[in-house]
Amino acid sequence: RHPRTIFSGIQPSGIPHLGNYLGALSHWVELQKTAVPGDRLFFSVVDLHALTVQRKKDAPSVKDDAETMTAALLAIGLDPSRCTIFCQSHVAEHLHLAWLLSCITSMGRLNRMTTWKGKLVDARNANSEAEIDESHLNVGLFTYPVLQAADILLYRATHVPVGEDQRQHIELCRDIAQILNARLQESLRPDDYERSAFRSPELLITSYKRILSLRDPNQKMSKSSPDLKSRILLTDSTDVIYQKIRGAVTDSQREITFSPEARPGVSNLLTILAGCTGENVFELAEKFGNAGHGELKKTVMEAVEETMKGPRSEYLRLLKDRTYIQQVLRDGAREARKTAQQTMREITDTLQI
Ligand code: ADP
Ligand code: NA
Repeated sequence: RHPRTIFSGIQPSGIPHLGNYLGALSHWVELQKTAVPGDRLFFSVVDLHALTVQRKKDAPSVKDDAETMTAALLAIGLDPSRCTIFCQSHVAEHLHLAWLLSCITSMGRLNRMTTWKGKLVDARNANSEAEIDESHLNVGLFTYPVLQAADILLYRATHVPVGEDQRQHIELCRDIAQILNARLQESLRPDDYERSAFRSPELLITSYKRILSLRDPNQKMSKSSPDLKSRILLTDSTDVIYQKIRGAVTDSQREITFSPEARPGVSNLLTILAGCTGENVFELAEKFGNAGHGELKKTVMEAVEETMKGPRSEYLRLLKDRTYIQQVLRDGAREARKTAQQTMREITDTLQI
């Protein structure tokens, strides 16, 4: 196959949970494993995106969060000698390109983003004392998809491994690439244009699996839930993992079946188990049959522990070695900058800006 350039990012927002791992991060490691010579992989801790979110007063600094997320990426198996791991804010070109792209992207296009519409709905529904409404939302939330497009185009990424929820943002990125290409085409001879044109990046769905909250299986497992029992963290000990899975909400039907709509709790446990072992959810359901929820939970506990124990101990070890983490980020930024600066030179030279 043709060599790929892969770009993906994760916000530095606390300790990753099992949903992040099974839904996204484990796939990054898989892409690293299956890379062929010529492939390039860029994995970014997107701290600039995280600035759109109001930080809690007692939260660690953005810089600390970026370093701990980097530790997590290394702990799960990303290898800085095989991929470029870097912090978005260390490569200033992200902002430069984002601005240029924001000047060729219409308000209407961004207004249609469902993520943005969701923020508007949340703001209108917020019943806080401050009576926050949409006029208080920061502009960064609105232009977020443009910065994301810049992240991708800066490396001329051909494939973007992200969740299904990001589909619309990738579509926007493809549209922006076409507009940018049209501008470049006006200024270049056909063969120069062939070389400079941006290829449309393809969405590489990391997973159709949504891991659900252990306490409320009608919601996804998310760091935004205040109930810590709803998610399994990379730092959770064996005992804590066992407790959380033992307390997972299921239903009163004894038989184990995989039916995500009707039985989200039990199905979620099967999804988690399948994610950890690589087995098929329907075959697993068949296998458990009438064995009962206790038996299923016991197997899930052991599989989750088996999956998490290596990354967990490596994460805890790396957190104590800040010097190493900072070195990885410095090297990664130097590497990323080479490509980012090259892309920006091509754009600014062609467009004469
Ligand atoms: P959170 O919802 O906890 O804030 P993020 O939005 O930061 O997580 O997501 C980081 C990555 O993890 C994204 O690629 C997202 O698709 C994936 N992800 C997050 N939660 C889940 C989940 N419950 N199931 C599957 N994937 C998830
Ligand atoms: Na989120």
